[in-house]
Amino acid sequence: MADDNGGRDVAAAPESRGAAHPVNAVARVDSGSTVSAGTAVVPRDALQNPGLPPHRPRVTDVDPKKERTAERWVYSLFYLSLAGSLFTIVAYFAFPIEENSPASTRANNLALGIGISLALMALGIAVVHWSKTLMSNHEMIDQRHVTSGSPETRARAVQIFDEANKESGLGRRAVLRNSLIGALVVFPLPAIVLFRDLYPGTAPEPVSQLSHTMWEEGMRLARDPSGTPIRAADVTLGSVFHVIPEGLEEAEHKLEEKAKAAVLLMRLRPSDLNELPERQGWSYDGIVAYSKICTHVGCPVALYEQVTHHLLCPCHQSEFDVTNHCEVIFGPAARPLPQLPISVDAEGYLIAQSDFTEPVGPSFWERASVDND
Ligand code: FES
Repeated sequence: MADDNGGRDVAAAPESRGAAHPVNAVARVDSGSTVSAGTAVVPRDALQNPGLPPHRPRVTDVDPKKERTAERWVYSLFYLSLAGSLFTIVAYFAFPIEENSPASTRANNLALGIGISLALMALGIAVVHWSKTLMSNHEMIDQRHVTSGSPETRARAVQIFDEANKESGLGRRAVLRNSLIGALVVFPLPAIVLFRDLYPGTAPEPVSQLSHTMWEEGMRLARDPSGTPIRAADVTLGSVFHVIPEGLEEAEHKLEEKAKAAVLLMRLRPSDLNELPERQGWSYDGIVAYSKICTHVGCPVALYEQVTHHLLCPCHQSEFDVTNHCEVIFGPAARPLPQLPISVDAEGYLIAQSDFTEPVGPSFWERASVDND
């Protein structure tokens, strides 16, 4: 059945050219022995050897010393991968990210990057080197045609998997197998350490975390990012201000505080505002303040249409109507933007009457508990 052509495997059994009827294939390897061509099905008019050069054995096939060297390389790379994974874990604690320290963030990212790259790269190179130098080096021609998937074919496939398992040497080369298992077992550990904060038991509960921001009674509204307090007289009709709490710069976790407390300030004609009964007195002479954090997934709502009094979130196009307590009029956001009750102090500066009365930001979690608050 097999046709020798320069010592290369050929799997073909032409009986009459042009016939489409497939037959099972048999191949011959260059050692002269005949092996199965696997699940290949060879048509009767299969293409003969197109003139490929003779098979050349690898150095590791003919030289046992070279084979041992290749094996040493492979398991050394697996151990290197293992070391890279462990280094990532150690580096995570050795180079912590410190508050307001870009240098510590850079060092942390660099160390984690080196560790993860080393682990992945060494693992990848080891697997490729193993397959290139130590695994079976048969060259086969596998004619690809429609297979019937008969019970015999499936049984043969199982047999082939079994053969591949033997040929890869997993059972025989204990050091390789164990070092591979070690590298694969340790590899996910950095991810567990790095993302452990996502575990509900360790992460702060989001509803209570987002229910309280820096705003408090009497705190002045200030421009973002300068921190200059805003007078009510500065807010002209149709204008919009990006606002932060005064004193944010001195806050211990100023970025986290800003992410929750950012506010948009707008002035409309008082007659344009349809205030809810329970919110009477939350605005000042047509000036209203709403959370800037979108209630969809938390992007900053940054676009204000002066004519329609609509706020637009650029992330997924949620649109909020400022004249109607920022209710959602379009897009995926599920609830209005929380309103910050404001007033003015004796010097004419805008101040908060209190913190927000509901959690700011995304509302996909535990909405029921928010309703019950
Ligand atoms: S985050 Fe605003 S619409 Fe999605």
